[in-house]
Amino acid sequence: MSPPILVSFILFLSLPFLFLLSPQLLPTTHFPFFSSSSPDADDLSLFRRATTSTSTTRHLSTTTNQKPKIAFLFLTNSNLSFAPLWQKFFSSDPNRHLFNIYIHADPTSAVADPGGVFHGRFIPSKKTYRSSPTLISATRRLLANALLDDPLNQYFALFSQHCIPLFSLRFVYNYLFRNSLTNFSASQSYYRSFIEILSDEPNLYGRYLARGEDVMLPEVPYHHFRVGSQFFTLTRGHAKLVVRDQRLWRKFRLPSITNEPCYPEEHYFPTLLSMVDPNCCTGFTLTRVNWTGSWNGHPHLYTPEEVSPELVCELRDSNWSSYLHLFARKFSPECLVPLMDMADDVIFRDSEVGKYILHTKL
Ligand SMILES: *[C@@H]1O[C@H](CO)[C@@H](O)[C@H](O)[C@H]1NC(C)=O
Ligand SMILES: *[C@@H]1O[C@H](CO)[C@@H](O)[C@H](O)[C@H]1NC(C)=O
Ligand SMILES: *[C@@H]1O[C@H](CO)[C@@H](O)[C@H](O)[C@H]1NC(C)=O
Ligand SMILES: *[C@@H]1O[C@H](CO)[C@@H](O)[C@H](O)[C@H]1NC(C)=O
Repeated sequence: MSPPILVSFILFLSLPFLFLLSPQLLPTTHFPFFSSSSPDADDLSLFRRATTSTSTTRHLSTTTNQKPKIAFLFLTNSNLSFAPLWQKFFSSDPNRHLFNIYIHADPTSAVADPGGVFHGRFIPSKKTYRSSPTLISATRRLLANALLDDPLNQYFALFSQHCIPLFSLRFVYNYLFRNSLTNFSASQSYYRSFIEILSDEPNLYGRYLARGEDVMLPEVPYHHFRVGSQFFTLTRGHAKLVVRDQRLWRKFRLPSITNEPCYPEEHYFPTLLSMVDPNCCTGFTLTRVNWTGSWNGHPHLYTPEEVSPELVCELRDSNWSSYLHLFARKFSPECLVPLMDMADDVIFRDSEVGKYILHTKL
């Protein structure tokens, strides 16, 4: 080969390496929780596909025999200890006409496939860290996968490995869809999301400043900053809204610069939804939690000795006259035994819950 051709050839060969190296050379990698090469490019393409897919409710109205489904999203970094209880919960619908399951499991913690309805329901996942934007990313990944997977998914409910159901699947399904089934052709906003949205928590200002003074501006002025439980049930419209969002995510993904934990996953979703579509949010989470005696940001962890039919009934109730808690956390893995013992007679017994249907109206 002549020298000019040789030079061209070498340049040509080195092109792929340039592409490989270039993300490291760019000064944009200031998020320590992202891998250094092209931050979340695969997520971005997933999110784009999920929000541009043509599947909408309008298609469903023409096929009247297709029922809407609930997407159950599990976000975990350890084994799903309550899989047998959830398995029982789902068993009333063996052909999965009413639900789908998606699991995001931290790939570094070797979470076992629980089998049964959970088998093969793992989505491509990345490592998560407590009190970091990685939990938001994981949730957005779950929402995007569920949006893409089945256009019949109309509600998207998020759980951790410590969450349990407090009612049967049939009850939960009717509770969520009872207003919607009769008018499924109505616009997406006909449904409402169950997401807690609070503006009066004592540490709110500190958590707002956690990423630095003024960095949230102008997108998120303090008077729009909200807090709420990470565990929500979103409508399909709101799931798309979250996955599509870049504006607020650009702010909430910034790392905390203080020593105080700032729990961005408890702020991002309530702030975004209350800014964009507050009237279609109930402001209420369906997942009961007990903050009495909380420690280091962890709520009360129920032990087997505390589990009883009375506790299940107490957890179902809420101070909001028109709402109920359909799920609860946080339970230690050892609670599985007493919970399974009363699953048929208490938790999933529909005759027991007639009184709830009567006194709850949305
Ligand atoms: C998860 O379950 C598998 C099999 O059931 C077990 O081998 C593994 O040790 C468990 N992992 C953890 C973190 O407990
Ligand atoms: C269904 O929803 C649409 C759109 O909101 C509304 O115009 C229509 O009247 C509703 N139909 C019934 C039967 O409620
Ligand atoms: C909440 O947790 C406290 C202990 O921190 C316990 O005494 C109380 O009974 C719990 N409340 C309910 C409703 O479970
Ligand atoms: C209901 O309100 C009472 C009194 O304000 C409070 O002590 C209790 O924790 C509330 N329960 C729930 C489930 O919010």
